Amino acid sequence: QELQMNLEQIEKGGYDHFMLKEIYEQPNVIKDTYRGRLHANEGIIQMAGVEDNLEKFTNAERILIVACGTSWHAGLVAEYIFEEFTRIPVEVEYASEFRYRNPIINKGDVLIAISQSGETADTLAAIKLAKEKGAFVFGVCNVVGSSISRESHAGAYTHAGPEIGVASTKAFTTQITVLTMIALRLAKAKGTLSNSDFHRYLQELEVIPEKVADALLTNDVSKEIAAKFKDAPNCLYLGRGYNFPVALEGALKLKEISYIHAEGYPAAEMKHGPIALIDESMPVVVIAPKQGHYDKVVSNIQEIKSRNGKIIAIVTKGDIQVRGLADFVIEVPDTTEALTPLLTTIPLQLLSYHIAVMRGCNVDQPRNLAKSVTVE
Ligand code: G6P
Repeated sequence: QELQMNLEQIEKGGYDHFMLKEIYEQPNVIKDTYRGRLHANEGIIQMAGVEDNLEKFTNAERILIVACGTSWHAGLVAEYIFEEFTRIPVEVEYASEFRYRNPIINKGDVLIAISQSGETADTLAAIKLAKEKGAFVFGVCNVVGSSISRESHAGAYTHAGPEIGVASTKAFTTQITVLTMIALRLAKAKGTLSNSDFHRYLQELEVIPEKVADALLTNDVSKEIAAKFKDAPNCLYLGRGYNFPVALEGALKLKEISYIHAEGYPAAEMKHGPIALIDESMPVVVIAPKQGHYDKVVSNIQEIKSRNGKIIAIVTKGDIQVRGLADFVIEVPDTTEALTPLLTTIPLQLLSYHIAVMRGCNVDQPRNLAKSVTVE
């Protein structure tokens, strides 16, 4: 027993929980994920699984993405990135819905399955179905040799290393990294991005690990904010565009580990329902980076403020306008719009981590949840 506990302490590498350790590993594992694949100076992206099947991707009339949980959120971010970069239509679906609804799958469709564990039963069943119907199945998994990676025709691993905390963190950001690289490679093949944009994205992706490290410096302010909101019964997360899926993921992190009811919404949808919930006791986390519909998000923030909601805003460093309106701000470095999810996600992970710790929750093994769901 004692030996077991000591071993666990060593494995946590000085952190109180695996989740925190894994949050802090993100700069390194993102680098591990693009190492040998991204050559920004040469303007090259090389991933064997994509290279060997380039025509299948470039000829695809659409790309289907199936996943569950946090991986599904990575799929939603990927939808924005793929459509913007490659102009290939993308549909993202919960694997559990896809497999049970007689989906339309055409020969020549490309299906990307995203799964940290590579063992999620619904995702596995979805790819089996897609294969039967003649789709080309590409797996994005973290666990090497996992069932989904074996069942896929080809794939690309994330190199996040073992993720022990049930709440997924580094798997999410490395999934986005892999999917961004795939989209960039396809954009190059299809000529859907200008040369200068292509090179700019490569350069930006290369420096993202340093910016993630910078975003991790928000730990202290996240902890202070956590102390203020740890007893809230509800919490709303809002974001637009690339950061709408980040809002969903932020809300999922909070409910998973702190058991606070949280919902993520596209900011503009607030007026179609959630705004009715807003009063002085409702914390609203708004993801408002300078890039991407900033002015629209600012007006959403004003609407929340006029109803006395408590605003926690995730902003780009140096932001003045939102700072003037929000109750609390957390600053992340600037980057190109499509890559903002890799940075805005970080303080949301930290916020839910600290809230869960302060509430005395079992952060690494939340009640009722499993790391890998191998049953339906
Ligand atoms: C479980 C885990 C989540 C994970 C989801 C999908 O619910 O608790 O963290 O996002 O399964 O898992 P996968 O391994 O397929 O990414």
